[in-house]
Amino acid sequence: MSELNALDQYLQQSQPNHLELLKRLLRIPSVSADPAYKDGVRQAAIAVLDTLATAGLETELIETDGPPLVFAQSPPVPGKPVALVYGHYDVQPPDPLGLWKTPPFEPSERNGNLYARGATDDKGQMLTHVLSAAAWKAVEQQLPMQVKFLIEGEEEVGSEQFEAFLARPEAAEKLACDVVVISDSGQYAPGQPAITYGLRGIAYFELHFSGPKQDLHSGSFGGAVNNPAIALSKFLASILDEDGRIQLPGFYDSVKPLEQSERTLWNELRFDDEQFAQQLGVSALLGEKGYSTLERRWARPTFDIHGLWSGYQGEGGKTIIPAKASAKISFRLVPDQSPQEVALQLQQFVDSHTPAGVRVEVIDLHGGPGVVVDPHSPFIAAAQSSIQTAFGTAPVLIREGGSIPIVAAMKDKLEADVLLLGWGLDDDGAHSPNEKFKIADFYRGIRASTHLWHHLAEVAG
Ligand code: BES
Ligand code: MN
Ligand code: MN
Repeated sequence: MSELNALDQYLQQSQPNHLELLKRLLRIPSVSADPAYKDGVRQAAIAVLDTLATAGLETELIETDGPPLVFAQSPPVPGKPVALVYGHYDVQPPDPLGLWKTPPFEPSERNGNLYARGATDDKGQMLTHVLSAAAWKAVEQQLPMQVKFLIEGEEEVGSEQFEAFLARPEAAEKLACDVVVISDSGQYAPGQPAITYGLRGIAYFELHFSGPKQDLHSGSFGGAVNNPAIALSKFLASILDEDGRIQLPGFYDSVKPLEQSERTLWNELRFDDEQFAQQLGVSALLGEKGYSTLERRWARPTFDIHGLWSGYQGEGGKTIIPAKASAKISFRLVPDQSPQEVALQLQQFVDSHTPAGVRVEVIDLHGGPGVVVDPHSPFIAAAQSSIQTAFGTAPVLIREGGSIPIVAAMKDKLEADVLLLGWGLDDDGAHSPNEKFKIADFYRGIRASTHLWHHLAEVAG
């Protein structure tokens, strides 16, 4: 245990330096969705690579047809398991810019939080593992087990390049591991850390409805043609019924009913609907009938509209029948549902629901299946004690509603266990204006990760 004491002391002294390293990374605008940020994306990859190299790991920048993959590893330790840390250095677009109190790429400290795009998702969380490896190297000259890193730059847009790399024959050997460690999720609540054993999948689409060859005067032509904006609205409305059930034929065929044991455990988490509604600024919660809020967020599929545009959006009125109407939509999926199957179901639903006088194009943007892992693995037990030490409270086991599209593929391809150790909080504002990461959680995450390598090394490899 004395090695852990020496490491703890080192971490304590290194806090100002660690925060500085995080700020340096947050200043780099690495928005993967927007080609205008291409340079920033690459710069972020190099900054992560540099940090890993400075820590004393062997590093490699793997070029792809998109953003590079950052790979690093410490030396093999015979007889000990191998961990692979996965994370992402790309971030979501900072828009709407006007709502940020301080600029998104100028990290700023307020009330114990660090505000910047990517603070919690995922630069701050990912860095906790890089810095824990650096601490072991600095204090003990070596890690107690082999730790590899694969940090990518396209998670927020579907991980296409990493998926292609994973399919290459050399990937299985390079990334070979017993357990994939990911910090890109959240704690259950402030003061209540968690280990996540399930994530939802996603299938994301764009819909384009077109009608007349150009916008028309709605007085002269209203009543004569199908309005694409109305057709799109009706179509979108028909996807959900009154009970919040998705109407695509076959959609629920591979959805397993919830386990009674899970429902019981989640009930014990005492989720407060009213407080949650208040936190989100809504007067009531809404979702599929017959399920609690946690069940609906963690383990039931959902449909959402993310963007919707058509016709005149400027000042004042303009009387037209728009020629086109479009939407960005997605379905969150539960394990066993396949994004490819949902794409077919959506196309069939479109084909059988397209009214006369409009054409509909469906564009499949990206997707990834959901995942559930064994909550009783020895790796989870090792993570439990590390988190207990660093956060002062034992973690609860939860599932989450968000998606990390490549996790299921890593689990299958590498035949590895998965540890989802989230250091974030529900009110961190991931993907929203004024995203933040609680600085104390950053330090606790680094400490938990530092202890994790010690405890994982004790698990039979
Ligand atoms: N870190 C999130 C995923 C997440 C969010 C996990 C909340 C657990 C709880 C990740 O960066 C993310 O936002 N993923 C996208 C994937 C999509 C763009 C393909 C998501 O879930 O919307
Ligand atoms: Mn993330
Ligand atoms: Mn994200």
